[in-house]
Amino acid sequence: MTGSRTATPLTMQELPALAVLLAMEGLPNQDIADAGRRFWRVDDPDGLLGYGGLEIYGRDGLLRSVVVPPDRRGKGDGHAVVDALSREALALGLERLWLLTIGAAGFFERIGFTRAERSEAPPGIRASAQFAGLCPGSAVCLRRDLGPPAEGTASAVTAIPPETAPVR
Ligand SMILES: CC(C)(COP(=O)(O)OP(=O)(O)OC[C@H]1O[C@@H](n2cnc3c(N)ncnc32)[C@H](O)[C@@H]1OP(=O)(O)O)[C@@H](O)C(=O)NCCC(=O)NCCS
Repeated sequence: MTGSRTATPLTMQELPALAVLLAMEGLPNQDIADAGRRFWRVDDPDGLLGYGGLEIYGRDGLLRSVVVPPDRRGKGDGHAVVDALSREALALGLERLWLLTIGAAGFFERIGFTRAERSEAPPGIRASAQFAGLCPGSAVCLRRDLGPPAEGTASAVTAIPPETAPVR
């Protein structure tokens, strides 16, 4: 990995590109333009690493729509995208991330998430569209507590130094 990474909020005009990737993976995309969703693209100087999104429920965040283009997988880009989104979450004042996944539980466990029961999630997360219906009951629930905010994470476009330690 060379150079710094940036996390840039997606504009409405950029959502269709994300929707296509999500559809290719069978992930929910029908609600991405709805209120209360935020999505970012994460780039390094060589181009797009991937996308991810957050829904905010108090101090808890639903991490969603994490996707790396197929031709870039297996090189640490997914980890980099989640770390970038975690830094955005910290900058937004979140303390925990939750997610549901069907096929990528092993990936999220590898990068510091732990399995949880859906019932452990706070009411706002449980009432989210993903928990309430968009993701099947067989999807695995995972969570991760976020560390203290790092310096320089509050800007809309956040420069992320390479090779940073994963957010726990
Ligand atoms: C899941 C996804 C984001 C991973 O991206 P990636 O760039 O291939 O992942 P990384 O290279 O950063 O992998 C980080 C670690 O997780 C491991 N890993 C990656 N995918 C994994 C999987 N499906 N199961 C178990 N471990 C996995 C890697 O081997 C790597 O381990 P290492 O640190 O020992 O080398 C990517 O496969 C993807 O976009 N999948 C389709 C969308 C999806 O399912 N998203 C999750 C739902 S929100």
